[in-house]
Amino acid sequence: MSIYSRILGTGSYLPPETVTNDDLAARLALDGIETSDAWIVERTGIRERHFAAAGVGSVDLGEHAARRAIDAAGLSPQDVDLIVVATSTPDMIFPSNAALIQARLGCPGGAVFDVQAVCAGFIYALSVADQFVRSGMARNALVIGTEVFSQILDFSDRGTCVLFGDGAGAVVLGPSDTPGVVASALHGDGRQAGILRTPGRVCGGKVTGHPFLEMDGQAVFKQAVHVLENVAREVLGKAGRSGDEVDWMVPHQANIRIMLHTAKKLGIPPERVVQTVAWHGNTSAASIPLALDTAVRAGQIRRGQTLLLEAVGGGLTWGAALVDY
Ligand code: UT7
Repeated sequence: MSIYSRILGTGSYLPPETVTNDDLAARLALDGIETSDAWIVERTGIRERHFAAAGVGSVDLGEHAARRAIDAAGLSPQDVDLIVVATSTPDMIFPSNAALIQARLGCPGGAVFDVQAVCAGFIYALSVADQFVRSGMARNALVIGTEVFSQILDFSDRGTCVLFGDGAGAVVLGPSDTPGVVASALHGDGRQAGILRTPGRVCGGKVTGHPFLEMDGQAVFKQAVHVLENVAREVLGKAGRSGDEVDWMVPHQANIRIMLHTAKKLGIPPERVVQTVAWHGNTSAASIPLALDTAVRAGQIRRGQTLLLEAVGGGLTWGAALVDY
């Protein structure tokens, strides 16, 4: 009997429009706001990001990524009996992105739902789907991270609008006799909700509150370096492994300084850290599956290797997973 889940295939999708730091600086300059490629690269490692065209939503991006992951798994949409979507930028208040993507793909009537844990969303969704497959509640689970953060950015706030981009990534998990997802750990601290949030909501037919992303960057930075190291050590401990046994760290791509600092603390050298932040920016819940699929398709990540995934995001929420790929 299968008691584990493993990754059968990965996929990702980026909308075609690329926005470089210089493009963004020119756009902000029109409103008298100063930023520069040098500042953005030095503080974050970001060089460019992709923005979805008007009218394109996270369901569109997620559908593309999902189709690629299902193909890579050698399955068809009929084989998928669970869809978990991690997103903070869904197409609708309801139904969920998972339901909308299920209809587009033509998957049969298994469970479909979204998980909202912002940038830690993919780790949450992966862990939830892992429990479903391990328990036999589902056989083949599609786990998607998809975001259009460009649609909630305040372009008058240079402290946040230069950081984020759009994209989607997906994996298919299936049952296995040997571990795949070896261990995962999830955490949250709602007392810190105020340091990273999009507080607007729809009420009585109107948007009330500020419907744009707000962040106290320094406060998040301080928390991030602390909780990421701890949660990474927690999953390594659960799995009985050390940093030396990690072939690839696949971190949430928010800031190169945070990523490399955490890796160093764990004894993982920079050349074993998958780094896509320069080209994708921070794509929130999409960033880990996007980075994972990019490294798989580039031939960097290979079957049999051990991966450490970790992320922190609004909530605060954070988590990590150790995966034998
Ligand atoms: O995905 C969820 C998790 N999120 C994160 O992990 C983000 C964590 N935080 C960060 O990555 C960093 O805090 C930032 C990249 C957001 C900011 O970097 P920082 O080194 O913490 O810069 P800062 O906020 O302390 O700002 C330093 C200076 C300030 O000017 P003064 O007060 O020193 O004159 C800012 O006004 O840089 C200024 N600044 C900018 N200058 C040019 C802020 N944004 C910009 C900008 N261009 N885009």
